[in-house]
Amino acid sequence: MSIPIVKNYPLDKLNTFNISANAKFFYEFKTLESLKEILNHKLLKTEKSFVLGGGSNILISNDFDGVVLKNSIRGIHIIKDNTHHTEVEVGSGENWHEFVLWCVKKNLSGVENLALIPGSVGASPIQNIGAYGCEAKDTIKKVQFIDLKSKTIKELTNSECDFSYRSSIFKKDLKEKCIITKVTFLLNKTPINNTSYGAITSELAALKSQASPQSICNAVINIRSRKLPDPQKIGNSGSFFKNPIISNKKLKKIRAEHPEIVNYKYSKTHSKIAAGWLIEMAGWKGYRKDDFGVYDKQALVLVNYGNASGNEIIELSKKIQYSVNEKFDIKIYPEVNII
Ligand code: EPU
Repeated sequence: MSIPIVKNYPLDKLNTFNISANAKFFYEFKTLESLKEILNHKLLKTEKSFVLGGGSNILISNDFDGVVLKNSIRGIHIIKDNTHHTEVEVGSGENWHEFVLWCVKKNLSGVENLALIPGSVGASPIQNIGAYGCEAKDTIKKVQFIDLKSKTIKELTNSECDFSYRSSIFKKDLKEKCIITKVTFLLNKTPINNTSYGAITSELAALKSQASPQSICNAVINIRSRKLPDPQKIGNSGSFFKNPIISNKKLKKIRAEHPEIVNYKYSKTHSKIAAGWLIEMAGWKGYRKDDFGVYDKQALVLVNYGNASGNEIIELSKKIQYSVNEKFDIKIYPEVNII
């Protein structure tokens, strides 16, 4: 059977930064079998390839000179159910937010704080997505993937995934060595109601709601919609940089000059700093040139107002990194993958 590989395919609608670029070749896989088939295709022996999920954590710098493999493996299935937990297997090409809504509707708790995070389920373990006091690692039980070298299917348990802040084994030892095909989540039947994040408590009060998976989900949707631009209207990929982790010694030094520095405890010796605050202090919040800039409600988000190129955004990000380093002696690094 010949495989429908499309030549010169536009990626404009497949990346939330809304960058115009083409892939030399494009192929969409919907099943494990079709993924295996394409991986054995002769084209993949000569051309480089790149797996595209929801396109929400990438910045495309140029046309992609290779094969873009679009992941559309679907399916949400309950595989185990007892008094306390429900185990759910989810195809990696499912949309993350739709999966969150599916859980909330079934009153399954664990991912409601992660509502409205753009992207696919398969991307969630890679950078251990997180927001409002929760991370994907809190509910992921195991991750299934294809090992690109042996072309065999493998599985890692939660602890084997080596999760940490915005990172996992998939960003380290397994980077570019596998394609995630399925994620298994262990969800709670008793609501967790994680309202540790102040913004959630205030939003629940404003909504006059008691904490529940549904109300927390609604609160997160409201908060995110106020702070973060809708990629349908303004191209962006959420937080562009990771929040840097610095020594408490350095924090003390900066705090002497900036008592209001936004920081969170990371370990006994280190603290996490809000990169949005650093970027705002460096004077970039609301910056705009031509069609690229820094969002005016959250400085951690770089935006494409229309026809910005990937390279313009990359240049802007470098200038921001440079000026934050000049002002605070802190290096910030992108969480977005630059292709
Ligand atoms: N802040 C500023 N100026 C800004 C932005 C932020 O001063 O322009 C300060 C504010 O004091 C604010 C604090 O920084 O209270 C923290 O900001 P926010 O609550 O927006 O969180 P964040 O640390 O900037 C992280 C995640 C977000 C996630 C939120 C909520 C990272 C890199 N980003 O942002 O994730 O939604 O926490 O938990 O960890 C994403 O990854 O795409 C993303 C949006």
